[in-house]
Amino acid sequence: PLISSTHMLQIARKNKYAIGAFNVHTLEMLQAVIEAAVETQSPLIIQSTVGTVKHLGPDYLAAAATVAANRTGLPIALHLDHCTDFQLIVQCIRAGYTSVMIDASMYPFEENVERTRKVMEVAIAAGVNVEAELGKVGGVEDDIVVDERDALLADPEECSQFIERTGVLTLAPAIGTAHGIYKGEPNIDFARIAQIADRVAAPLVLHGGSGIPAEQVRRAVALGMAKMNIATELRIAFTDAIKQVFTANPEENDPRKYMVPAKEAAKRLAIEKMQLCGCVGKA
Ligand code: 13P
Ligand code: ZN
Ligand code: NA
Repeated sequence: PLISSTHMLQIARKNKYAIGAFNVHTLEMLQAVIEAAVETQSPLIIQSTVGTVKHLGPDYLAAAATVAANRTGLPIALHLDHCTDFQLIVQCIRAGYTSVMIDASMYPFEENVERTRKVMEVAIAAGVNVEAELGKVGGVEDDIVVDERDALLADPEECSQFIERTGVLTLAPAIGTAHGIYKGEPNIDFARIAQIADRVAAPLVLHGGSGIPAEQVRRAVALGMAKMNIATELRIAFTDAIKQVFTANPEENDPRKYMVPAKEAAKRLAIEKMQLCGCVGKA
């Protein structure tokens, strides 16, 4: 069965590695990250944004992820990424999600606390992990668009208060990364990660994983980032491979053919990120 992401992330934080959390949008992308986890014997978090839940249906996603967990025997969690909607969170938990993110980072602190507590009540009773965000991660993720000028770094003191007030088990503090590919390099505030990790024992989540230079990922993970989200790079690897097929052969019309190199490319990318996270062999 699928398992909650709570325990696997706590182990990761304790042992200073991170678990790769991959945003998938199709069955082939889901299979690609599963195969990557099998090949490297890595724990895995499969995640879907609200847009993908609406595109495929939470029950289809949960069914496919459950098959993967049962067949492989690996520790696999299914996570709902960046959700602002309480009802949809409940719906995903009912469908079989084992981890959910309540993203109330666009609200003032007190309201973020209230909204996160409300999700904690339903999730913890169901054995489901909860991730919340403090500060604001910049960039574009589905319908959540945060202009660079509005991106806000998380305050370390607020992070510890937030954990105390909500009991949330996984925290995504904004520390300078952004969703999407960076123009140039991200401006990660490593001192801030250290200050947050000092005050917060819970596993921390690194959003905006695509495009972060390898050395910076390693530093962030060593400081306490125990989950790294990868969306854009996976989608690009998958789609670029399909584009190549159609460039070489515009007449191709068989998904069973043009999806093969796409799945292979997504799998290679996932393996690379798992190696970077240090979670290889930790299943
Ligand atoms: P990227 O698109 O930069 O990989 O960000 C992923 C993410 O944080 C999903 O929540
Ligand atoms: Zn994110
Ligand atoms: Na990014």
